[in-house]
Amino acid sequence: MTNTQFAAAPASAVIPGPATPYQGDIARYWDHEARPVNLRLGDVDGLYHHHYGIGDVDHAALGDPEDSTYEKKLIAELHRLESAQTDVLLDHLGAVGTDGTLVDAGCGRGGSMVMAHQRFGCKVEGVTLSAKQAEFANGRARDLGIGDHVRARVCNMLDMPFEAGQVSASWNNESSMYVDLHDLFAEHSRILGVGGRYVTITGCWNPRYGQPSKWVSQINAHFECNIHSRREYMQAMADNRLVPQAVVDLTPATLPYWELRATSSLVTGIEEAFINSYKDGSFQYVLIAADRV
Ligand SMILES: C[S@@+](CC[C@H](N)C(=O)[O-])C[C@H]1O[C@@H](n2cnc3c(N)ncnc32)[C@H](O)[C@@H]1O
Repeated sequence: MTNTQFAAAPASAVIPGPATPYQGDIARYWDHEARPVNLRLGDVDGLYHHHYGIGDVDHAALGDPEDSTYEKKLIAELHRLESAQTDVLLDHLGAVGTDGTLVDAGCGRGGSMVMAHQRFGCKVEGVTLSAKQAEFANGRARDLGIGDHVRARVCNMLDMPFEAGQVSASWNNESSMYVDLHDLFAEHSRILGVGGRYVTITGCWNPRYGQPSKWVSQINAHFECNIHSRREYMQAMADNRLVPQAVVDLTPATLPYWELRATSSLVTGIEEAFINSYKDGSFQYVLIAADRV
């Protein structure tokens, strides 16, 4: 596809509609989602994420909690950690040329897509069930003058509008818990060229714990999702020609983000479930980078 065609194709060119009543619920959920914890963090620099952060908290940057500017600094710090998470995902995509095409499956408001384009200079295609999110992401891309390279579409990631083998690398950033993993990885495997890279960052329940803990069940209910186990990821990848090249346990790296967030005015009530399940070992935050063979 040429850049002219890319820019000319409307964001809504492919709207198959939710394939299931559940997907209709998820589309509605994200159409109406406007939590300050997402929007106020995005306002910091215009990169809007719907995922969590990793890395150590910079306490010097936060300063004195009694200071009137503390809350603003805390928001900036949480946002820095969320963008650091995206950077780690992008680090695992491998070498991507400017003529490559990247796919962000479950792209949200498009923060990761913008960062990917800024790093690699290539086209980035995003898909989301939410028309509001796609419009938002395309608006941001237009404002940044990169609308000819970064585009979000309303579309089901289990049935993406890309030719077989045409995509250099693809990812799910906290979006794989909404779908069946075999269906998801079959679709990534179809669109990726042989030698292409797939990366996911996700929460998953730990098979060593035995079954999903009460905290994991609480997180599922809160987000209307279905967290898979680490074992399911490995199995579904192996069944779909995706061979893990790196598996990184990001759990210790994400705990500081949650502990800081729990002290802020932006709490949503789910912080305790994340902190407790990471600490009792029933839940893990992992990155898996796999080669399409
Ligand atoms: C937690 S948000 C993550 C957004 C984004 N990846 C980020 O890091 O900011 C989950 C996203 O998955 C998308 N999603 C869930 N199921 C989907 C499906 N079947 N097809 C496309 N997108 C889906 C939602 O629309 C939403 O954008």
